[in-house]
Amino acid sequence: MAMCGVASRRASEEIISKGRVHVNGDVVDYMGYEVDEDNDIVEVDGIVIKPEAKKYYILLNKPKGYVTTVSDEFDRPTVMELVSDVHARIYPVGRLDYDTAGLLIMTNDGEFANVLTHPSHAVNKGYIAQLNTMPDTEGLNKLRSGVLLDGKLTAPAKVEVLKPGKRGVEIKVTIHEGRNRQVRRMFEAIGAEVISLKRISVGNVTLGNLPEGKWRHLNDAERQRLMGRGKKSAQKRK
Ligand code: URA
Repeated sequence: MAMCGVASRRASEEIISKGRVHVNGDVVDYMGYEVDEDNDIVEVDGIVIKPEAKKYYILLNKPKGYVTTVSDEFDRPTVMELVSDVHARIYPVGRLDYDTAGLLIMTNDGEFANVLTHPSHAVNKGYIAQLNTMPDTEGLNKLRSGVLLDGKLTAPAKVEVLKPGKRGVEIKVTIHEGRNRQVRRMFEAIGAEVISLKRISVGNVTLGNLPEGKWRHLNDAERQRLMGRGKKSAQKRK
């Protein structure tokens, strides 16, 4: 009962001894009854209870060439294949395009996923984009102040040129919105094409040196900060 979030162990004993618990329709008012989780139906005050699933918070380094869905109608590889060794019904929080690589969070905690994706939470996401050409200052400033996509201005982005040279242009962009193919379309809007795109951070959580295709658990501090509960909560829009 404690594992079902009904009450503490001690309070559960009291509930049992008061005859408020039924297993498969029969009152069980003594301690030590072994419940068969798969087959027994346990009720407290007539309400069926089930153990709460253990919560998982996974950070995956998604390679390009994987769809961010649980299944794909075109039979393309899905990110689920990369976390098949996690034995829980986790799902992606938000989305990365098929051809985008990098940091993807997955969980089976609905509240966590909702908080992270809710626009009011405005969690910053950092991307490194490789471009076919170096945008001019005016273009970069447009990204910083907002470009029109689908008739609506994007929120101001943080833009940092990492490599301006002929041997590849690399720009770091930080945004907090999650519009469809947003970073690619923002660059398109200023006349540049994204050749490759990688997400390197979500809030204060960074990809670090996790190899492509591998995953790790988020630690408690990372999880708390993403929920806005830690000492240094998820970096929000300045
Ligand atoms: N912006 C894009 O264009 N693609 C992504 O996958 C994420 C952000």
